[in-house]
Amino acid sequence: MKIRSSLLVVASATLLFSGSQSFPPIARGQEPATFQPPSDSEIPSGPFGDLVRKGEHIFTQTGVYARPYVGNDLTCESCHLDRGRKPYAAPLWGAYVSYPRFRTKNNKVSRLGERIQGCFRFSMNGTPPPLDSETIRSLVAYSFWMSRGAPVGVKLAGQGMYRMPRPKRQPDPFRGKKVYAARCALCHGADGLGATSGHDVAFPPVWGPRSYNMGAGLAKVSKLAGFVKMNMPLSKGDTLTNQESWDVAAYVDSQPRPADPRKIR
Ligand code: HEC
Ligand code: HEC
Repeated sequence: MKIRSSLLVVASATLLFSGSQSFPPIARGQEPATFQPPSDSEIPSGPFGDLVRKGEHIFTQTGVYARPYVGNDLTCESCHLDRGRKPYAAPLWGAYVSYPRFRTKNNKVSRLGERIQGCFRFSMNGTPPPLDSETIRSLVAYSFWMSRGAPVGVKLAGQGMYRMPRPKRQPDPFRGKKVYAARCALCHGADGLGATSGHDVAFPPVWGPRSYNMGAGLAKVSKLAGFVKMNMPLSKGDTLTNQESWDVAAYVDSQPRPADPRKIR
């Protein structure tokens, strides 16, 4: 009996981690210094600066400036916090210097523009703008500008999302539901649908028809746990324990959301 149940745990842990944890978590306190992106006042005038500013507008008000490509109530900034600057929220300064990059998602080397197309398709549950469109070009310009002076070919502290250490206990949506009620529902709603004020989305939906779809990065429990650990509750990042972050991520990702468009025919 005992052997049987521990085998079950191993099997489910293998399922949980297969394919997603390719390198070990960074030891806290041992990361290299965080890169400081330039401030907005340093955006130059002229056509390049105009493109960068356009990119920033699309990034923060995606449903307004890139409307035909957006299929939900999120903006790029809903996840890439602080206008794409916040460490451990996949900052744009860390992104620019890590492409082109090989991705196991499609087994090919992607350019940054293609990576951004992916966020439109899955995280924004929308339609990818063409690679040579002004939408993609201005987002790439915004990322390029923000990475000014960032070193290439080294791991930067805060690049990408935080990679969670493995949980002590199997992530449990039932425990996670309690964490959600206590620490998240105030803003995102007990129903997960977020809250609007007038036409503006005050708090984005974390599940339901207007949130990210099943193919998105955050639809993976490990990715969401790392995002939540470092960034949520908003402005109180790093206040949940690792186990609470895993559990609340398991709960949020067990809720209904739009299907993975690769699986719809
Ligand atoms: C629902 C959350 C969410 C939204 C909304 C979202 N993204 Fe992402 N994005 C992610 C996640 C998760 C990753 C993967 C980060 C990782 O694995 O390190 C990512 C990765 C990226 C990367 C590559 C970062 C890197 O370091 O490799 C770029 C660039 C990017 N997103 C741009 C955008 C843009 C532009 C938009 C808006 C059109 C957008 N994202 C909307 C969650 C989101
Ligand atoms: C004080 C309000 C507040 C609390 C509490 C809070 N969030 Fe958020 N959360 C936000 C806001 C606002 C954003 C979007 C940030 C932006 O647009 O700048 C966000 C973004 C998110 C996102 C990415 C966008 C989306 O809608 O999918 C997720 C996932 C998320 N929060 C999960 C959580 C979880 C889990 C908790 C509880 C541990 C939590 N949040 C607690 C305000 C909050």
